[in-house]
Amino acid sequence: MGFQVWRPVGLAKYLAAALGAVLVLAFAEYSLRFGLRGLGDDLTLETHIYTPGGWGVNLAIFGHMAVGAVIMVLAPLQLVGRVRARYPRVHRITGRVVVGGALLVALGGLAYIGLRGTVAGPLMDLGFGLYGVLMLGAAVQALRFARAGDFARHSDWALRLFVLVMGSLIYRLHYALWYLATDGLGSTKALDGPFDQVQYFAFYLPYLAVLELWIRRRRV
Ligand code: HEM
Repeated sequence: MGFQVWRPVGLAKYLAAALGAVLVLAFAEYSLRFGLRGLGDDLTLETHIYTPGGWGVNLAIFGHMAVGAVIMVLAPLQLVGRVRARYPRVHRITGRVVVGGALLVALGGLAYIGLRGTVAGPLMDLGFGLYGVLMLGAAVQALRFARAGDFARHSDWALRLFVLVMGSLIYRLHYALWYLATDGLGSTKALDGPFDQVQYFAFYLPYLAVLELWIRRRRV
């Protein structure tokens, strides 16, 4: 009986992990390619994100895409208990890369917002700006508590950082699902429709809230 119940649950977990891995790898590949192209080529005709002649702002935004791709692939590995237990040195080194990368990603995104602003203006600046500030904070705290040997709080902050790193993928998934379901109701090309405005915050705040509840329940 226990066997029959366990098997479908175990299988569902593996399938969910496999689907997650495919999505992460596909988006990371897109982000890395886009980032590297923006760092090397003139993308003026292709995207509003490119600033002609603005090497600093291009370095910030396209660099954040390339580094973001790397941390998005590495961050899930940090959650695997078996890797942490058997290869603590790998966990520590990868952890420093993820934290350092997250700082660069957040600073790059914030610099772009400060220098150019997002495509949809102040409210999107606010949503993405808060996203960057939270990522900075979570990265610093995860490292700080690991170094202090406070592994309970390190784990809480590392999970918050993980959710934030995945936020960028979640943002695109919300759009993909919404366009499939409604053909883009409430969304505009300038990203300033009602659906878009909710998305400025909805790709990370609800997920962080669920995580907080889970962290609190874990402690009881
Ligand atoms: C792992 C984390 C991240 C990855 C992989 C990532 C990736 C990307 C990619 C690929 C784009 C290009 C737009 C597109 O193709 O849809 C983009 C745009 C952008 N990202 Fe990120 N990003 C990450 C985190 C962040 C953070 C933390 C911030 C905030 C500070 C941020 C701010 C921005 C901004 C402002 C844009 C341009 C939006 C516009 O069109 O005006 N990103 N990001």
